[in-house]
Amino acid sequence: MKVTVIGSGYVGLVTGTCLAEYGNDVVCLDLDPEKIALLQNGGVPIYEPGLEEMIKRNVEAGRLRFTTDVAESVAHGTIQFIAVGTPPDEDGSADLKYVTAAARNIGKYMSDYKVIVDKSTVPVGTADKVQQALLSELTLRDKHISFSVVSNPEFLKEGAAVEDFMRPDRIVIGVADETAKDLMATLYAPFVRNHDRILYMDVRSAELTKYAANAMLATRISFMNELANLAEVMGADIEEVRKGIGSDPRIGFHFLYPGVGYGGSCFPKDVQALQRTAQENGIELRVLDAVERANSAQKTVLVNKILRRMGEDLTGVHFAIWGLAFKPNTDDMREAPSRVIIQELLKRGATVTAYDPVAMHEAERVMSGWKGLTFSQNPKAALEGANALIIVTEWKAFRSPDFGEMKSLLKQALVFDGRNLYDPKRMQKEGFEYFPIGREQG
Ligand code: UDX
Repeated sequence: MKVTVIGSGYVGLVTGTCLAEYGNDVVCLDLDPEKIALLQNGGVPIYEPGLEEMIKRNVEAGRLRFTTDVAESVAHGTIQFIAVGTPPDEDGSADLKYVTAAARNIGKYMSDYKVIVDKSTVPVGTADKVQQALLSELTLRDKHISFSVVSNPEFLKEGAAVEDFMRPDRIVIGVADETAKDLMATLYAPFVRNHDRILYMDVRSAELTKYAANAMLATRISFMNELANLAEVMGADIEEVRKGIGSDPRIGFHFLYPGVGYGGSCFPKDVQALQRTAQENGIELRVLDAVERANSAQKTVLVNKILRRMGEDLTGVHFAIWGLAFKPNTDDMREAPSRVIIQELLKRGATVTAYDPVAMHEAERVMSGWKGLTFSQNPKAALEGANALIIVTEWKAFRSPDFGEMKSLLKQALVFDGRNLYDPKRMQKEGFEYFPIGREQG
């Protein structure tokens, strides 16, 4: 099938590449000439496990191309995915200017039937706006070419996006007519062993599903973070509580890990956008207000522990930080709790040496010029002469360190762990003062 993907960012690139992998003829469009030049020369602008090899394979097979040419890309695909960014406006609502611009471009150049698929995370009602944008262009040309607008939200997790796309737990398709439904069914057939995994619904329900899923997950995390704070002062252990409630199948084990607050490009933005949509429609989502407040407080929980142990003035205190990305297996620094933690420490006179297995380059970019912050090329070197280690992201490589060596490199045997990587009793035995989240300190 001929497919065009508009927007070669995170979602667009993964979508286009994975569709090419199953034999579709895919053109990826982006208006950024530098990005397209990089892709055309075999580079990949983001880090995502498995993506680079898959792009290479499909480009070599002639099934995947990159272009900045709008007319060519519109002419190519019967199915046109819109996967452009929807950055938050100042009021938290999603800015749809790139989505409607993409729709207008399709309207400007299309000459036969197209299915336009909203893949970007867009508020309920966006499909109607896409429809209007297209129609207004088509009317100008006085043409009566038919088209369908479909909502097909993505549920990709960064760090596992290729895997999630290739083996989805569900595919949500909001569609209003049979022609488009049949085309989408054919496109996704290779990705699902049985069609039960494709959920067809009306367009607005599909649009809301995306926000509902992310808001529900964010709610679980904030709830666990608040419970962790309570467990800690009550002398309970949140890790035991987590297991105790997760074994109830109605609750389940996923997304119950307390930590330093959720970050990334989706949860913070989507929770705010959903609140905004609700407000605009006269509905109050009280739960989500609390979810957001709890999350922003959680980002400073580790700092508060540090201040209680080391005093308010951190002048002359040096910290090692392990983990900068908002979660493992990504170089994404958007809304990363590490940014807040480091900023708070520097503000109080401390110095920081940070290490991350993948996100260092991105971290240097977003934190460039921060006085008192340096980066280390390996985790051990970061520990040298530090008064304490702070763990912010749960990369696998941090799970089984040589504790003896860690102790000898640190000036003080202090570990503040925002991801509960170690057993408090073991840490005590190893001679550390250990500060986890939601459990008694070791
Ligand atoms: C999320 C959704 O999972 C995905 O379905 C959607 O398409 C995009 O948003 P992503 O942002 O890549 O994906 O990361 P995710 O793995 O969901 O983690 C989000 C944040 O929650 C991270 O900061 C992570 O550290 C935090 N988290 C996650 C917790 O603190 N505890 C948990 O138990 C799970």
